[in-house]
Amino acid sequence: MDGVNNKHETEPLAPPQEGTHPTGLRVTLRDGRAFESRGSATVGRASSHATTVQIALDDPTVSAFHVDLTPTHDGVEVEDVKHSRNGTWYHGALLRKGVVPNGSVVTVGHTDLYLQLVFDHAAEPPREESFGELIGNTPAMFKAFRDLRRLAPTRSAILLRGATGTGKELAAKAIHACSGRKGNYVVVNCAQLTTTVAEDAICGHVRGAFTDAKSERKSPFEVADGGTIFLDEIGDLPLEIQPKLLRVLESHHVTRMGESKERPVDVRVLSATLHDLRAKVNDGSFRADLYHRLVHTVVWLPPLEDRRLDIEVIARRFLIPRPEADGCLRSNGYLRSITRPVLDALMARNYPGNVRELRHFVELLDDLAKGPTITMGDYDEALRYNRGECGEGDGHSASPGRLPWKDHKSHALQQIERAYFSSLLKEMGGVQTRVAKAAGINRSTLQEICERCRLFPDEKDGAP
Ligand SMILES: Nc1ncnc2c1ncn2[C@@H]1O[C@H](COP(=O)(O)OP(=O)(O)OP(=O)(O)O)[C@@H](O)[C@H]1O
Ligand SMILES: [Mg+2]
Repeated sequence: MDGVNNKHETEPLAPPQEGTHPTGLRVTLRDGRAFESRGSATVGRASSHATTVQIALDDPTVSAFHVDLTPTHDGVEVEDVKHSRNGTWYHGALLRKGVVPNGSVVTVGHTDLYLQLVFDHAAEPPREESFGELIGNTPAMFKAFRDLRRLAPTRSAILLRGATGTGKELAAKAIHACSGRKGNYVVVNCAQLTTTVAEDAICGHVRGAFTDAKSERKSPFEVADGGTIFLDEIGDLPLEIQPKLLRVLESHHVTRMGESKERPVDVRVLSATLHDLRAKVNDGSFRADLYHRLVHTVVWLPPLEDRRLDIEVIARRFLIPRPEADGCLRSNGYLRSITRPVLDALMARNYPGNVRELRHFVELLDDLAKGPTITMGDYDEALRYNRGECGEGDGHSASPGRLPWKDHKSHALQQIERAYFSSLLKEMGGVQTRVAKAAGINRSTLQEICERCRLFPDEKDGAP
């Protein structure tokens, strides 16, 4: 057995509340695969006749029937099946039978198992702990997930409201995925629609419609026909462009630039904003008729500071390897656990960039941590990097002896990048369009850099 796999130290997830009983288990592997079971589950080696094994592992060092896992009120009961090949390990010790806390990692053969209890409350409104990729463990999020799941299959135009990094875009994607609509999901970033490009961006054009129109361009509404269009940052849509969008929404037709033909479109509309659109209607910067077309209902995603208990489950989630947007698996070979003091420190921090910022910080912790458990030492180091205090001359964390060259170089570059864009953002009053222009990059590259460097400008688009 290798030393990495049998030495996890874990800290419990919050214990269940009085009177709540787990009804199942979720078991996650270090490659991100997860198994769910109602009641108990047996872990064993995958084979064609292993029909009584609920969690079948492709690990030759695991026995055909290795360990039984049972959800209990106090945690997960772990019972090694007699004669399992090499036992079940917890905290570096062999475990024959015992109850481990919710959120523990146990090891069988060469495989780590992250154990979570699943609760099912028949008497209460269903407790939705996730929706698409969004997760949460607080009443505010249970409600948001319930509302989103209920509304997803309807035709309702939903406005997603919440501060930056609260999951509006993830929610929109998941609504489409649960809507049953077969067409495409298309995102339009309204903050990028300046007057000159707006009509083209909303309606598309035919070939020859204007001097540079060398080929045709479909309207995003045509591309999303039968599906969903997500109008991101709708509060930033300039007033003079609003009638163009309204026309499409009211008529359910688009007319490409350069032709008079009306093309029918059947599109479900979702939108998101950081701003209170009603205030914009009140001050005349957002049309009331467009507001009523776009907002049949509002779903609010609260900031992290109003749901600090979510920090723990979300932080743990970001430690589980998972595929990134590019399809690559984010994994550094560890399924790390995290000590209670680090969890408490994470919960005490402020995250102006909300879950996005928490995610970046936890990923930094995961990248910097030196062993299978994230400790306060790792936390302090991550904090210094995060504050930009680990550049040249910091003989502690950035010492070449402490980090591989590849990591040292990438952290040093990140510090330079962060310092450059942080000062430019300050100079330009946080206006991203101006910053992008001054830096000679486009706005989406700037947004990627801001995310990577955990910079959260107040204003997201061009100045008025
Ligand atoms: N409840 C959540 N559970 C898990 N991950 C989340 C959650 N909320 C946000 N995230 C993470 O935060 C990141 C940002 O989410 P998203 O892009 O949906 O935010 P947003 O509200 O659209 O932010 P912005 O207003 O800045 O565009 C996501 O990539 C995801 O990693
Ligand atoms: Mg967004």
